[in-house]
Amino acid sequence: MQIPIEDFYEDVLAKTAKGLGFSASSLAERAGLDRDAVREALRGNFVEEEARKLAPVLSLDSDALVLLGQSIWRPQVVELDGLALFNSAFADMTVNAFVVWDPSTREAAIFDSGADASELITFVQNESLKVKGVWVTHTHRDHIEDIPAIVRAFDCPVYVGEKELANFGTSFPAGKQFSIGSLSIESRLTWGHARGGITYVVSGLEKPIAVVGDALFAQSMGGGMVSFKDALETSGQEIMTLPDETVICTGHGPMSSVGEEKKVNPFFAGKF
Ligand SMILES: [Fe+2]
Repeated sequence: MQIPIEDFYEDVLAKTAKGLGFSASSLAERAGLDRDAVREALRGNFVEEEARKLAPVLSLDSDALVLLGQSIWRPQVVELDGLALFNSAFADMTVNAFVVWDPSTREAAIFDSGADASELITFVQNESLKVKGVWVTHTHRDHIEDIPAIVRAFDCPVYVGEKELANFGTSFPAGKQFSIGSLSIESRLTWGHARGGITYVVSGLEKPIAVVGDALFAQSMGGGMVSFKDALETSGQEIMTLPDETVICTGHGPMSSVGEEKKVNPFFAGKF
């Protein structure tokens, strides 16, 4: 079963309003809407006409915001030899971790641990994959919680982007390349949600993969907790410019692709 879409209409509105410094009142004024209508929209009451007035004020794509409000779109199901997703529960949400491997040499990279890596660990053992390391997208607790269990199971190194200032693992500067069998892993700085978030672009499978952490979700992105502006800019520059067929492995919600997000992501549609 595919994982549900992570963010709703109200989440995208709230993240953007917060990121741009709008209150419900100032947003209502700019959009020419009643303040109560905006408050209701921020609680998830979707009205297409209002969405079309709010979108331009928030620099969101109107059609993509309406599509999100209608809750009808789903990304295509991703099936790719050499890629597996693991979803575990963390508080009231779920979080993703990924295993990527070279099908011929069976060397593998793990991306994040999620909250509970036990299924991931069993999968790797059953498939007899040779784990070369854990690559961390960012150090928010839900993504790294079970790294110790992975390290215990496979005695492997942990790699963390240096701008995350982590007190564990081996730090590296964005731009560093890694290789796993015949696969190459390029690291790109996609920060703004986290101080030093990294997107890993993996080449060598049937399609390229971008493991993005919370830099992008299907139809949304992680909140701009450090900098909304930089989250938008770096996710746009580093992810949305990848080839359309690139599979996006998100930290929460279902996987998607660059081509799909160019059409349906309210933050990026119409801009790439
Ligand atoms: Fe996060």
